[in-house]
Amino acid sequence: MSNAQRLTRSEQELESSSFRTDVLRGLTARRKSLPAKYFYDAAGSRLFEAICELPEYYLTRVETALLTRIVPEVAALIPQGAALVEFGSGASVKTRLLLDAAPQLDFYVPIDISEAALGDAARTLNAAYPTLTVLPLLGDFTAPIALPKPVRQRPVVGFFPGSTIGNFAPAAAVDLLRSAGTLLGQGAQFLVGADLVKSPSVLVPAYDDAQGVTAAFNKNLLARINRELGAAIDPDRFRHRAVWNATDSRIEMHLVSLQDQTVEIAGRTITFAAGESIHTENSYKFTVAGFTALAEQAGWRVQASWTDADFPFGVFLLAAPDA
Ligand SMILES: C[S@@+](CC[C@H](N)C(=O)[O-])C[C@H]1O[C@@H](n2cnc3c(N)ncnc32)[C@H](O)[C@@H]1O
Repeated sequence: MSNAQRLTRSEQELESSSFRTDVLRGLTARRKSLPAKYFYDAAGSRLFEAICELPEYYLTRVETALLTRIVPEVAALIPQGAALVEFGSGASVKTRLLLDAAPQLDFYVPIDISEAALGDAARTLNAAYPTLTVLPLLGDFTAPIALPKPVRQRPVVGFFPGSTIGNFAPAAAVDLLRSAGTLLGQGAQFLVGADLVKSPSVLVPAYDDAQGVTAAFNKNLLARINRELGAAIDPDRFRHRAVWNATDSRIEMHLVSLQDQTVEIAGRTITFAAGESIHTENSYKFTVAGFTALAEQAGWRVQASWTDADFPFGVFLLAAPDA
């Protein structure tokens, strides 16, 4: 990434102080939790890419197949000279389906919180698409952000795959879809992938695979606290747990303490009882009607939606009401 897109020293200090604040707040609450966005440091992003290759993690496979089928239809709606803006772009792999089908795209703006993933993806795409201008945006898409100047006067298409929207509770998901609408601007279209409700016998293994890669991804949060906040938590004293919460229609991931223990983090003493858990992630599962209602509450109109015939996963093309 160019210097302009790298975090400055004061931004890095701010980021590490907000990590410390959020970790201490989450671990001193009555019910302990950590924000899922902190999974994605360099090691976490690499582990997520390994998760995408797992046989149990159907999400990547099914969404990729669905996108492959529908991109000609979507690409036909993309105006000449448009900008593609992606939320939580990670390795930008699914993006290539759109870029290949829509060579009329002039700009690509990947937004991600993971500097390592964003830098790698930008370098790879720059090399693979020489006529495309890639303008990576490093940051938290739940915080106020602005599009780079060169794309502000362009037609804009948003892209939000991976069912990352499912990591947000319904009210927060509405807020995020609404602020995405503000960022993308009048007339924008927004292609969003959202995982749909299915049997817990399929859902749970997707978040608790046989090889333990998802467990390592979850425990990387503890390793990150050790690395960045100078703590000495033993990840082996915690167990990865994934559970289907039918009431809230979500998979929950937890780190469960295997014993009574005390850890020191940034000068604070945190105690865990045996069996006490840290709630690290929610992955809400939608119905087509439920996701449509959420998008409409956020001010979008569902212009089209596609689902896999055999496997419940939805891709929704949203349009700003004036589009
Ligand atoms: C579930 S992964 C999806 C990656 C990719 N889009 C895909 O479909 O495979 C979520 C991605 O969103 C990024 N992310 C998570 N929370 C974020 C936030 N609050 N702001 C910006 N990026 C975020 C992560 O770094 C990660 O790359």
